Amino acid sequence: MIIRMLNGKKTSRTPVWFMRQAGRYMAEYRALKEKYTFLQLCSTPELAARITLLPVKKFGFDAAILFSDILLPVKAMGLDLDYQPGPRITPRITDMDGVERLRVPGPEEFGFVGCAISGIFAELPGEKDLIGFAGAPFTVAAYILEGGSGTDFPMIKNAAGSPLFFALMEKVTQAVIQYMNVQADAGIKLFQFFDTWAGLIGAGRYATDVLPYTQRAVDAAKSRGLKVIYFFKGGAGMAQAVSRLKGVDVFSVDSTLPLGEIDGITGGRYVMQGNLAPEILTMDRDLIIEKVDAILKSAEGLKGHIFNLGHGVLPATPEANVAFAVEYIKRAGEK
Ligand code: CP3
Repeated sequence: MIIRMLNGKKTSRTPVWFMRQAGRYMAEYRALKEKYTFLQLCSTPELAARITLLPVKKFGFDAAILFSDILLPVKAMGLDLDYQPGPRITPRITDMDGVERLRVPGPEEFGFVGCAISGIFAELPGEKDLIGFAGAPFTVAAYILEGGSGTDFPMIKNAAGSPLFFALMEKVTQAVIQYMNVQADAGIKLFQFFDTWAGLIGAGRYATDVLPYTQRAVDAAKSRGLKVIYFFKGGAGMAQAVSRLKGVDVFSVDSTLPLGEIDGITGGRYVMQGNLAPEILTMDRDLIIEKVDAILKSAEGLKGHIFNLGHGVLPATPEANVAFAVEYIKRAGEK
């Protein structure tokens, strides 16, 4: 339904899927986590395929998103990666030698991803889309320099503009493109770049030091014929900066501004994805209805709208609220 819409076909209603729709808020997922680590779940194709399909079968989302993580390429680059549950990446990269030691992984490093995708396509109903994804280079580089999770990412802020920064961005961009290529080879047609932390560096610096690398990743995806969704956080200033990217089909935006306002900033040229605040799904149904209605209204003048959250589903979200929200969005989004 989403790919059809991006090809300019009319749809009978607004399509809906949620970032992190397969995860800790689901009982079946938590049961699997009793037996396997997150990395085992990602790298075992049968398990990754099963988890990908869980929320689609249970809640009726219009799209599945590959169960994986934006940091898997970091492991393939030769660093140690571990989740507790936030990611930890070792050793810390502090100098050029560290960057030079990083490998650009070949497609053979991601064989399990291709297998998982084939398994998902074998079971996914024809009217549903499968979304592949990667981190955008800046966000992946931010985790590498920080050595894992952070909120402020001081390391990459300090490094920005330095030779170390550009050398790292170069390697990460190549790794991200390889990870995308494996997914395109396996038949993915719709691809999301997650650039969660791009806003941290400021719109001016993003334009000069980051955008060229993001653009290369987007160009590589477009050269494979993919439809591209770009997720970023950071409101109006960032919306203006990222709208200079060429080839993006959809902007996926956080919950800080109404979709109509972002559309005004980016020039009315894009399909928008978003942007219910994830916290709302932990609250009363009346509030869910009110906020969903407001988003659908704000999306009325857009070129197109894919309903989603402004960020991932929170682990504390009751499953019943997800079921309710998806059903309500489908009904209220009828045209
Ligand atoms: O959306 C989906 O359902 C598809 C799978 C997916 C995961 N991570 C699974 C996951 C996707 C698309 C991601 C993207 C991702 N991963 C991003 C970008 C989006 C965002 O959230 O900002 C980032 C920054 C990461 C890196 C990452 N992975 C972090 C910071 C964490 C820990 C945070 C947390 O939620 O605990 C992860 C772990 C992770 N990735 C989990 C899942 C289901 C939780 C692992 C567990 O079950 O213990």
